[in-house]
Amino acid sequence: MASLSLLSIFGLLPVACLAVVTIQDPSDVIPPSAWAADNAIVPDYNVPFIATQPSPIQAAYTYDSRKKSVSVDHQSYTVNKNDTSVILVTDGAKFDASYIDVLKYGYSSNLLTASFYGFNAAVNVANGSEATLKNVNITVHNGAANIYSYGTGTVVHVDNAWLYSSGPVSHGLYASGNGTIIAHNVQQFSGGMRSSSFSGDSPVGDVYVYNSVAHAAGVGSATFYALGTIYAENVQSISEKGPVVFMDGAQNATLINCDSTAGLLGGVAIFSSQIRTSGASLKLKNSRITTLGKTMPGLWFGNTIINVDIDTTEINTQSGVLVTANYSQITQDFDYYAGYADNNNLLPALVYATVSESKLKGDLVAYNGSYISWKLQDHTSWTGAAYDGASAGKAGTFDVALDSSSNWTLTKDTKVQNFTDGDRTLGNIQSAGFTLYYNASAGQSKWLGGKTVKLNGGGVAKPL
Ligand SMILES: *[C@@H]1O[C@H](CO)[C@@H](O)[C@H](O)[C@H]1NC(C)=O
Ligand SMILES: *[C@@H]1O[C@H](CO)[C@@H](O)[C@H](O)[C@H]1NC(C)=O
Ligand SMILES: *[C@@H]1O[C@H](CO)[C@@H](O)[C@H](O)[C@H]1NC(C)=O
Ligand SMILES: *[C@@H]1O[C@H](CO)[C@@H](O)[C@H](O)[C@H]1NC(C)=O
Ligand SMILES: *[C@@H]1O[C@H](CO)[C@@H](O)[C@H](O)[C@H]1NC(C)=O
Ligand SMILES: *[C@@H]1O[C@H](CO)[C@@H](O)[C@H](O)[C@H]1NC(C)=O
Ligand SMILES: *[C@@H]1O[C@H](CO)[C@@H](O)[C@H](O)[C@H]1NC(C)=O
Ligand SMILES: *[C@@H]1O[C@H](CO)[C@@H](O)[C@H](O)[C@H]1NC(C)=O
Ligand SMILES: *[C@@H]1O[C@H](CO)[C@@H](O)[C@H](O)[C@H]1NC(C)=O
Ligand SMILES: *[C@@H]1O[C@H](CO)[C@@H](O)[C@H](O)[C@H]1NC(C)=O
Repeated sequence: MASLSLLSIFGLLPVACLAVVTIQDPSDVIPPSAWAADNAIVPDYNVPFIATQPSPIQAAYTYDSRKKSVSVDHQSYTVNKNDTSVILVTDGAKFDASYIDVLKYGYSSNLLTASFYGFNAAVNVANGSEATLKNVNITVHNGAANIYSYGTGTVVHVDNAWLYSSGPVSHGLYASGNGTIIAHNVQQFSGGMRSSSFSGDSPVGDVYVYNSVAHAAGVGSATFYALGTIYAENVQSISEKGPVVFMDGAQNATLINCDSTAGLLGGVAIFSSQIRTSGASLKLKNSRITTLGKTMPGLWFGNTIINVDIDTTEINTQSGVLVTANYSQITQDFDYYAGYADNNNLLPALVYATVSESKLKGDLVAYNGSYISWKLQDHTSWTGAAYDGASAGKAGTFDVALDSSSNWTLTKDTKVQNFTDGDRTLGNIQSAGFTLYYNASAGQSKWLGGKTVKLNGGGVAKPL
């Protein structure tokens, strides 16, 4: 059974208001087991890099500027050919489609032409074109994106779309080359590898998704892959073998009223795949992220410098690890945390997180010189500890700041560098007998005067 059983998307309503809602996704209609061979295809990513589009895009139906504005409705389109799109809209054309069915078969022979230019995508909108797709069924097999947007000025509007795919590199919504997709009311399923539900690609693609359901089953498939901007509101999703968000580099992802479950790597897995970048941003508001794996952290960061804003949000893990900051990245295999052997430019992750109006449980873990700034404000409570991830290498470090409306319940001895508290008596800390060590020489810990302070629950705060 592939349907998502989720509690109310408004997961933070009082318990009495919670209702169990069962959500259908397209894999309830076309079982992935019927396309198991497609979904087992491992795409070959060891292919030579290409910087420019190699040859014209092949498509069964092409709408270009010569036809200016085209409207179609109640049509069926199909193609059974490799490296061939069903519909191509290009050269500044305007394409308006409603009640259309698109059914595609045919393989992609090159991962990079499929990823960077949308070769073999069922619907490819390119080069400053505009498409509006309403009430569409786009079903693809053998590995093809459902809807692709490419090029500066290209905008694809989607409303009420049923998107099914089997096979690799079969993203539901896929934007690159500065293309944009704005989608409402999407039901998406992808069964193959590297097939995120909603994805940007190099160098930039912007994807906005509202009121949608997404289910990605394959390794390397997240709900959202940020290369550019991801903005999501009211999305319920599961990524069985990936995180909710993959992000590579200094991108933006904003999730509002989303309820998303992740099965591999982390609730989010955010990294720089080459040189460490600075300026990434993750915002979670009125949302819930759940991780399924026994060791999966809620939020995972490697080789990146990022601002994280957690507002009125739940993060549920089985691992007890809320945030990991690591000297690491995710490789093109998308199934492990990579080390120095994969990228000798790796640097520690620096994570600047602000938490508001949330109740969080779990630990902060920083590896080999990584750093987490953890600022709790506006009636936030945190139950957990912070600790260095490994005995080898440079210690991970932490700064913690609490405002007077927030509180912290320790679950282990914890060492922090800068420590500030809006409650200067530290009355908002429950120590449960543990010790909070602070660095008396750190600029923002000086107010403590190097003193040992008794905490509620029998523990103390004292200098390192
Ligand atoms: C888009 O424009 C580029 C550059 O002119 C061209 O090489 C490419 O074939 C065009 N793509 C499509 C799908 O028309
Ligand atoms: C289509 O691709 C598949 C898988 O790579 C291959 O087996 C088949 O021969 C290709 N068909 C054509 C017409 O090239
Ligand atoms: C969409 O099209 C596919 C392929 O024709 C079909 O199997 C599926 O039932 C359709 N989905 C809906 C919701 O009609
Ligand atoms: C994307 O935008 C960049 C920066 O403006 C530009 O250099 C590049 O040519 C654009 N790419 C496409 C495919 O439009
Ligand atoms: C991220 O958002 C900020 C603020 O809205 C914006 O200035 C920046 O350009 C965005 N970055 C990307 C990569 O979209
Ligand atoms: C941390 O990164 C190292 C490589 O630098 C990797 O071996 C280890 O598995 C990672 N652990 C986590 C939890 O990220
Ligand atoms: C901690 O803060 C939360 C949220 O404001 C509040 O519900 C809880 O009662 C507080 N706990 C303690 C021990 O102060
Ligand atoms: C820790 O970081 C140093 C560089 O500062 C690096 O040489 C070393 O390989 C890293 N250790 C691990 C386990 O990744
Ligand atoms: C304490 O902070 C000072 C000043 O930033 C720093 O030089 C020192 O290494 C820190 N000590 C420990 C034990 O982390
Ligand atoms: C403490 O915070 C200051 C900024 O206020 C920063 O420069 C410093 O690196 C932090 N850590 C330590 C150990 O001093």
